[in-house]
Amino acid sequence: MSQSTDTLVPPSSVPDPEGGPRRYFVTSFGCQMNVYDGERMSEMLSAQGMQAADQREDADLVILNTCHIREKAVARVYSDIGRLKREDGSKPMIAVAGCVAQAEGEEIARRAPTVDIVVGPQAYHRLPQLIEQARSTRKTAVDTDMPAVTKFGALPGRARQPRPSAFLTVQEGCDKFCTYCVVPYTRGAEISRPFADLVEEAKALVDGGVKEITLLGQNVNAWTGDDASGRSQGLEGLIEVLAAMPGLERIRYTTSHPNDMTDGLIAAHRDIDKLMPYLHLPVQSGSDRILKAMNRSHNAASYLAIIDKVRAARPDIALSGDFIVGFPGETEADFQATLDIVRAANYAQAYSFKYSSRPGTPAADMEDQISPEIMDERLQRLQSLLGEQQQAFNQTTVGQRTRVLLEREGRKPGQLVGKSPWLQSVHVVAPGAGIGDLIDVELVSAGPNSLEGQALALVTA
Ligand code: 5AD
Ligand code: SF4
Repeated sequence: MSQSTDTLVPPSSVPDPEGGPRRYFVTSFGCQMNVYDGERMSEMLSAQGMQAADQREDADLVILNTCHIREKAVARVYSDIGRLKREDGSKPMIAVAGCVAQAEGEEIARRAPTVDIVVGPQAYHRLPQLIEQARSTRKTAVDTDMPAVTKFGALPGRARQPRPSAFLTVQEGCDKFCTYCVVPYTRGAEISRPFADLVEEAKALVDGGVKEITLLGQNVNAWTGDDASGRSQGLEGLIEVLAAMPGLERIRYTTSHPNDMTDGLIAAHRDIDKLMPYLHLPVQSGSDRILKAMNRSHNAASYLAIIDKVRAARPDIALSGDFIVGFPGETEADFQATLDIVRAANYAQAYSFKYSSRPGTPAADMEDQISPEIMDERLQRLQSLLGEQQQAFNQTTVGQRTRVLLEREGRKPGQLVGKSPWLQSVHVVAPGAGIGDLIDVELVSAGPNSLEGQALALVTA
């Protein structure tokens, strides 16, 4: 992984893109941070005078913003690149961005020579220069630097947002080095963005119509920064300042690590109304032996103790998690311990994955890799338990009156879809209400993945 300490070139100093691509299309895979990065790339290219194409086929620059977390995600990138060739033999300019770009660098150009640009997640502010370079040299332009100065200062300010809910990256990278995970290698060391920059970006989002902000970080609850009076603050300090911002109605954050779940942040769930009652706190496994092999630095009991504290602060919290089944050496007893922790923690929603061996991570070299058949079978059992819990959680909210932020139109005429405080999708027919409104509803029925609400009153227009 190359490091550089260069100063960043502002996009306005890019050579005239006369004759270069005019319409771009960005596809983001993987996590929410990739979605955020994809939005910042789009906003930058639009600020440069390019236009967003409605569909990929209409674009002369296609950016694949990739994910490296599991093998399947990587395979998809290469099949996607192949599909970009048009019937007449021509192709758009192709940029591979994101974590596959970071991890594979030059190798991508060798495997897929049609790729024009390879740009890592810390270097995408240089896309305009890379476009120029690829055009003038007719060779693949590769930039996987991790500059000491972060990209954020070189990106243009936030544009008006099309949706009422937006992401805001506050922290990037990871120093935890879980033994299965590529993130510390692809996203680099943990950095926290400065307090003042985040308040400024949040304000720009709210001025642009945003009502809900989700603070993002690979270890978002490890965020730290100095406030306006120079006092060092944790994430709850940032949340408190954002909660005082007029027009911002809801705050969320993801993804958290159990070890950084401080008492201050837990108290924020009790004290700050705008902080939504939802916590994504991955545990990965319920077996202490496997957690140790994963280098998770918490155990099942310490995780459950955190959940107890969070529920004492905010009894209605919707708990979400991530799980990996089939980590090397996982026995049936270890897997049973995972089912046990799921029963004890009781999730409202969760993500679960089969372990995927990632080259360069310590777990890839561990003995006793688990067969795909056993992984499939364990994943099915885990997902059936998590599915039951999700359905049960949704059922407990039926009959309650709550508030929904309307985010998009539904499939049926007049129907709108929004999110409850617990991040459930709620369908509602609400004449007079529109996207971006908050409405009070009574939840009347629940399915596994969404609920029906009956409109009571429009709160904001
Ligand atoms: N195999 C399977 N799942 C993984 N995750 C991270 N690395 C791997 C891997 N090698 C999962 C973890 C993490 C989520 C984002 O992806 O559960 O929390
Ligand atoms: Fe990966 Fe672990 Fe860091 Fe999460 S905490 S990004 S799983 S290394």
